[in-house]
Amino acid sequence: MSDKAILEINGEKHELPLVKGTENELAIDIKSLRSSTGGVITIDPGYKNTGSCESAITFLNGEKGILRYRGYSIEELAEKADFLEVAYLLIFGELPTEQQLDKFHSDIKSHALVDEDVKKILDAFPKAAHPMGVLSSLTSALTAFNPSSVDVSSEEDMYNAIVRILGKFPVLVAWTMRKKQGLPLEYGDDSLGYVENVLKMMFKNPNNPYVQNPILVDALNKLLILHADHEQNCSTSTVRITGSSHAGLFVSLSAGISALWGPLHGGANQAVLEMLEAIKADGGDTKKYMAKAKDKEDPFRLMGFGHRVYKNFDPRARIIKKAADEVLGDLGIDDPVLDIAKGLEKEALEDQYFVDRKLYPNVDFYSGIIYRAMGIPVEMFTVMFALGRLPGWIAQWREMRMKKEPIGRPRQLYVGETYRPFKPLSKR
Ligand code: CMC
Repeated sequence: MSDKAILEINGEKHELPLVKGTENELAIDIKSLRSSTGGVITIDPGYKNTGSCESAITFLNGEKGILRYRGYSIEELAEKADFLEVAYLLIFGELPTEQQLDKFHSDIKSHALVDEDVKKILDAFPKAAHPMGVLSSLTSALTAFNPSSVDVSSEEDMYNAIVRILGKFPVLVAWTMRKKQGLPLEYGDDSLGYVENVLKMMFKNPNNPYVQNPILVDALNKLLILHADHEQNCSTSTVRITGSSHAGLFVSLSAGISALWGPLHGGANQAVLEMLEAIKADGGDTKKYMAKAKDKEDPFRLMGFGHRVYKNFDPRARIIKKAADEVLGDLGIDDPVLDIAKGLEKEALEDQYFVDRKLYPNVDFYSGIIYRAMGIPVEMFTVMFALGRLPGWIAQWREMRMKKEPIGRPRQLYVGETYRPFKPLSKR
């Protein structure tokens, strides 16, 4: 097989090298395109065909429904691993030894306190504020309290910034929820595992000691692992491109949180539950909503369905659907919304519109049902996604900085007015 692609522009041939990934995926390297063609660029709105980087973190094959972190399958990690182990794996490339994991966790715990003044910023938000907006602002504000996290010229500086945010972020997550609920702001408990600590900080009632429920710990551990990375999606690309200007880690993450918030991305988990509730309130007529989703005049989309990359099945959705059944069963909850979700899925999988467009349930379709069963308010669902995605964003940001990638700066094809002389106000 040739290792070059030939591009012909106006009768002139240009050779472009082909590069191959470790899973035999092919890419045309267009780094020299502009210089060799005298300024020709490629155009690809939504970057559907554009690789923005070479990455060794996550492998995703949308046709075959494969997702692997650093070579390990998502199915195995969700079943056997702990979230913090997965975080270490994503960020540093290998599963940690017991000693490495202990050190990692203890470094995270030693940086888990958040400056008390951050509470004043939180206090200034109205209670009605969406927790994603609050989280994005507080994450950005952390930079002011930890200025040393910005200049990461050594690996040690980078490590310190990473353990700081892994320690402080769950505190912010818990605080955004507690503020909304009018509860006192809790700090963590160093005797607990990372996931147990998150649950305690979120749910501890001021009047009672918090008792861990292993079903909730397992469910959250699994959900966080399933969300931990997904290669160059919208929020991750945002983190990488923000960080490529050498803005600090925390503000890069804050930008990623904002990108995740949108309903076409992480915000879909909230939108799914709201949609299922609306269908239930409307008498549970799934056929009516299927018809709306297919009607091109109707802006309604079946939230939690479809994916830019998965054109077979989202492997995370399969695991989450099974977990939803188990968690609700274990907790003794009978949620009619789960039945509506299953009914919609069944209809969509048999419907020509969805079959033709290869639209399957994605990670967000069933996750909200589990979050709700855990007692997490709907507006917090995307925040939980952010908590899971944190190690992936960090890993991608670290990879980008370690590889000394150039600042992200796409080109454009200008289609506006050509030159025209300025018209004074009196003549317009
Ligand atoms: N309901 C109805 N029609 C849909 C849907 C849907 N959920 N998703 C895609 N389509 C149709 C779309 O109208 C288009 O039809 P046509 O070819 O006739 O114009 C076709 O399928 C292709 O859709 P697209 O919008 O060009 O595909 P995309 O790759 O740009 O968008 C997506 C992917 C995830 C944004 C989209 O499927 C969607 O909006 N889904 C609902 C929101 C959602 O669940 N998002 C979570 C994504 S997974 C987690 C994450 O990324 O955070």
